[in-house]
Amino acid sequence: MALVSATEMLQKAKAGHYAVGQFNINNLEWTKAILLTAQENASPVILGVSEGAGKYMGGYKTVVGMVNGMLEELNITVPVALHLDHGSYEGCLKCVAAGFSSIMFDGSHYPIEENVAKTKELVKIVAEHGMSLEAEVGAIGGEEDGVIGMGECADPEECKMIADLGIDFLAAGIGNIHGKYPENWAGLSFETLDAIQKLTGDMPLVLHGGTGIPADQIKKAITLGVSKINVNTECQISFTEATRKYFEEGKDLVGKGFDPRKVLAPGFEAIKATVKEKMELFGSVGKA
Ligand code: 13P
Repeated sequence: MALVSATEMLQKAKAGHYAVGQFNINNLEWTKAILLTAQENASPVILGVSEGAGKYMGGYKTVVGMVNGMLEELNITVPVALHLDHGSYEGCLKCVAAGFSSIMFDGSHYPIEENVAKTKELVKIVAEHGMSLEAEVGAIGGEEDGVIGMGECADPEECKMIADLGIDFLAAGIGNIHGKYPENWAGLSFETLDAIQKLTGDMPLVLHGGTGIPADQIKKAITLGVSKINVNTECQISFTEATRKYFEEGKDLVGKGFDPRKVLAPGFEAIKATVKEKMELFGSVGKA
């Protein structure tokens, strides 16, 4: 099946009270592990590509070629969207041209008027290409140069303003942050989420920073309209732990254990296990 926009899968998720996972990709192993897990679990899936990861993988066209090739040759029949994560305005235009099926414009650092103006432009462009558009209100915190932001809560009125521009789904800060959560993290602000959902109605809401949010908070967020949950760090941790174990056990020194396909195999399986666990928690298994 060819790439699809994420609009339909997320509208279905919102109506069906489950969430679709966005799993960020870094390379071929990541992509293959996520696609195969989605297929095995009959789950729709969104492959997230940050601007940095896009550059790392050799550019957006390389990513599109790799993903399209896998969809065909691995016989992936579940709905798959290829989505730019936290895109700049210029990055969004590049991904439209490269053949992505979905983009996120992160205008959260602009004054709201500028976020609105740029989002409006992209709504038009995306519609011409049958793609989907995610916008963001209220910056999502995280660790940057050792400074840990606690995660800002979006203003529900601003969320409504952006939601009404014709976007397809909305990321709103509700105390969530990227990366590991600090010990003293206060948890998600369900009050904010509830207020946002009341004003934005059927609009699928996106929860960034999916790594490390306790299962009960994930489930509650889904009941309050979250239909897309982004996970990145957790797959990275699983991959690295499994890879470290391979070396610690000296497996690279046995026979042809140095073969990169052998070295990367435990990490590949670890990503698959993490993605499966998240799909089960989000309720997307069997929803393709
Ligand atoms: P984590 O790395 O915290 O899972 O967040 C992922 C994310 O939100 C990508 O946009």
